[in-house]
Amino acid sequence: MKMIVDLKEHSYPIWIEPGCLDSLSDRIDTSRRMALIADAGIPESWIQKVQSQCPDSFVLRFAQGESSKCFLQYEALLQEMIRHDMTRKDAIIAIGGGVTGDLAGFVAATYMRGIDFYNIPTTLLAQVDSSVGGKVAIDMNEYKNIVGAFYQPKGVLIDPNVLQTLPPRQIHNGLVEALKTGLIQDPALVDLFEEETLDLPQIIARSIAVKKRIVEQDEKETGLRKILNFGHTIGHAIESAYGLESYLHGECVAMGMLFFIEDPALKNRVLSIYERLDLPALPAYDPQELMSYIRHDKKGKHDTISIVKVPDIGTFTIEELSYEQIESILEKGALA
Ligand SMILES: NC(=O)c1ccc[n+]([C@@H]2O[C@H](COP(=O)([O-])OP(=O)(O)OC[C@H]3O[C@@H](n4cnc5c(N)ncnc54)[C@H](O)[C@@H]3O)[C@@H](O)[C@H]2O)c1
Ligand SMILES: [Zn+2]
Repeated sequence: MKMIVDLKEHSYPIWIEPGCLDSLSDRIDTSRRMALIADAGIPESWIQKVQSQCPDSFVLRFAQGESSKCFLQYEALLQEMIRHDMTRKDAIIAIGGGVTGDLAGFVAATYMRGIDFYNIPTTLLAQVDSSVGGKVAIDMNEYKNIVGAFYQPKGVLIDPNVLQTLPPRQIHNGLVEALKTGLIQDPALVDLFEEETLDLPQIIARSIAVKKRIVEQDEKETGLRKILNFGHTIGHAIESAYGLESYLHGECVAMGMLFFIEDPALKNRVLSIYERLDLPALPAYDPQELMSYIRHDKKGKHDTISIVKVPDIGTFTIEELSYEQIESILEKGALA
């Protein structure tokens, strides 16, 4: 299946097909010099599959984990780009999860004021979410994604076969972002989580279809695109307070969404899906402590925060809530 993200001169194709990595040159011009960027955890077999089809390519690996989305790693990759004489006609291919895509994408956005960038997402999270939409970034100090750009790829190749090597916990982590997309925009996508077997290619395709539609309407997140932050305000706070070693991003978003699903029957459905996905339960938390992260996230410039709520399946509202209101929601708990 092929979809086009329609952003005028920044439009690009997304292929979602098991096996699409086997025929790279049908989809992208592989005759140029290609820098293949991947973290050290991406299985060699996937890198080899790509490199064997790019005659003039080299591979740049970096340590896995969020801490590589940093200025030092960014600079090291730029140094490698110079060392390999990369020109404006050449291209970068990211092969990896959201960390690889965000970092390699930011290198592509800035090297020589921007060179072609292709994304081959290899985690489910990247396949349903981060590889589409053009947000690329690194972290600085305690701020995630604080330095970056909107820089659309020239193409995205989503091959569900690469998920064969991804641990189940990472699959479930990515599924949360897909479920999020369904809850705000697509009831049929939520239904897919209740089928006897989880049809990953279908879940990926439906999630990307929704994300594509949202990004087409609001590329730079001045309005509608904010709805993709559903579950993320409290989720990020949990991630910062307790998540560093214990929880993955999607697991925290799952916890954060519960506070703002308003229909009790829907909340119960979602809780059953969480059980199926083996997601960790919300830990005992200190509302004051989470509030300190929520305030900090906004860097003290605002009195209210835009919160996305889901009154019923496939719909959303955006409300401006004061810090006091959010604190009282935290005090009542996610199951209130
Ligand atoms: N740009 C966006 O719009 C956007 C959206 C959501 C999240 N993000 C970012 O994405 C990042 C998280 O991404 P992630 O969850 O993909 O984590 P990740 O990139 O760290 O990947 C998770 C782990 O899986 C390993 N891995 C990747 N593919 C594999 C495979 N096929 N087989 C075996 N192991 C594999 C990696 O080596 C890594 O250790 C965060 O930095 C977040 O800020 C960006
Ligand atoms: Zn997220």
